[in-house]
Amino acid sequence: MTKADFNTDNYAEQSAYADRVKTLALKKYGKQPAACVVTFGCQQNVSDSERLKGMLVNMGYSLTDKEEEAQFIIFNTCAVREHAEDRVYGNVGATKALKRKNPDIIVAVCGCMAQRQSVADKIKQSYPYVDMVLGTQVQHRLPEFIYRRLSGSGRIFDLTLENGEIPEGVPIKRDGTFKGWLPIMYGCNNFCTYCIVPYVRGRERSRAPEQIINEAKQMIASGCKDITLLGQNVNSYGKGEEHGLNFSGLLRKINELDGDFRIRFMTSHPRDCTKELIDTVRDCEKVSSHLHLPFQSGSDRILKIMNRHYDRKRYLELVNYAKEQIPDLALTTDIIVGFPGETYEDFKETLSLVKEVEFSSLFTFIYSPREGTPAAAMDDPVSREEKGKWFSELLKVQEEIAEKNEPKLVGKTYRVLCDAVGSEDGYMSGRNSGTAVIEFPGEKDLLGSFVTVKTEEYSGVLKGKII
Ligand code: 5AD
Ligand code: SF4
Repeated sequence: MTKADFNTDNYAEQSAYADRVKTLALKKYGKQPAACVVTFGCQQNVSDSERLKGMLVNMGYSLTDKEEEAQFIIFNTCAVREHAEDRVYGNVGATKALKRKNPDIIVAVCGCMAQRQSVADKIKQSYPYVDMVLGTQVQHRLPEFIYRRLSGSGRIFDLTLENGEIPEGVPIKRDGTFKGWLPIMYGCNNFCTYCIVPYVRGRERSRAPEQIINEAKQMIASGCKDITLLGQNVNSYGKGEEHGLNFSGLLRKINELDGDFRIRFMTSHPRDCTKELIDTVRDCEKVSSHLHLPFQSGSDRILKIMNRHYDRKRYLELVNYAKEQIPDLALTTDIIVGFPGETYEDFKETLSLVKEVEFSSLFTFIYSPREGTPAAAMDDPVSREEKGKWFSELLKVQEEIAEKNEPKLVGKTYRVLCDAVGSEDGYMSGRNSGTAVIEFPGEKDLLGSFVTVKTEEYSGVLKGKII
């Protein structure tokens, strides 16, 4: 397959397949077929699944959350840790019984885990009831694959990873109306030594600014109030592109769009995070006061082996600058505990960084070896049990920080996007511009609106009243 084939540029060719699937599926199942999309992993996958659903609707399928009601079931998988993969095998295995009852249903596995050759081989051999395995860069050709299978082709295994252009024009069926994901780039070039992502999502490539702006405009026009820009490393947006727009420039452009909405983004890599970006967050009124800046380890020795290209000092400089410039900044981070060769002394550096920065929340992971990454071949003498102890220690430290800091949010006034019902009757819930969740008395008709809330008490949950 050539790069030109991969660049579907618009959805025209697939759309023709979608029309054929519509007719074929109706004939085969004798009724409108239903599709179930099961998503694992990160927001990028959630966003990809919204495109899978868009294509399925375009093919005439209705959508269901119940696998047993579906004629097409697709698992959009994650490979970042072993645990994520085990869950997928469990779920895929459960379709065996469904398939026995109705051999005409189609079962597919796609996403990051599916991209791994060893996984595709295992499915080929041990999961004969799986009809197709699709890699991350061919998912937009779903209509073609379903068409082929419905018209009698053998099982389909397509792991083409061309690092080609980004398919645009794929229909999207968004999960929510007032909060939405907007991918701005795909893939990753960083090759952190623990991470599988560059191998399963391919090289970094950015969407064209006009595609992103157009999608943002569509989202705003359909009532979206909270747009999260997505990429493995948003700070390197536009690198090497002729248009010369970097991530800060893109943020400014989206900030200028008409409408009352908020912009979030993730994930930032400390190596490419600049003062310019922090100034942009400070200056753009629609950009929320939240920075997700994974540091992974507080030990310079480990950061080097992880291939992270920054040290503790540079990280702290960035964070301190961000705290100075952005009032009410919510800082979140990712941390890996028990990287191969990490000692308790190294881990204590992580603890001390957590204590020094006082993050709003942490996403913490015990290191999980990923076949094919450099770290998986490194000596890893510390036992899982010992790593578990360190992990608990880290959680305890963060709990104490949260207990100390969360009550400080009482007595403040925040603009909150009401996005859920509260934990008590008569209460609604929403998020401020950072990551704080606040509950307040209100009715369901507030869902999707901004309200101004003064916080009054904290007892595990932050509560206040609309003013
Ligand atoms: N083991 C544990 N955690 C990992 N992450 C990425 N790869 C691994 C791994 N092999 C974590 C990192 C990353 C987050 C999305 O997942 O902290 O930022
Ligand atoms: Fe997302 Fe990474 Fe998991 Fe892929 S492997 S779904 S990019 S977290």
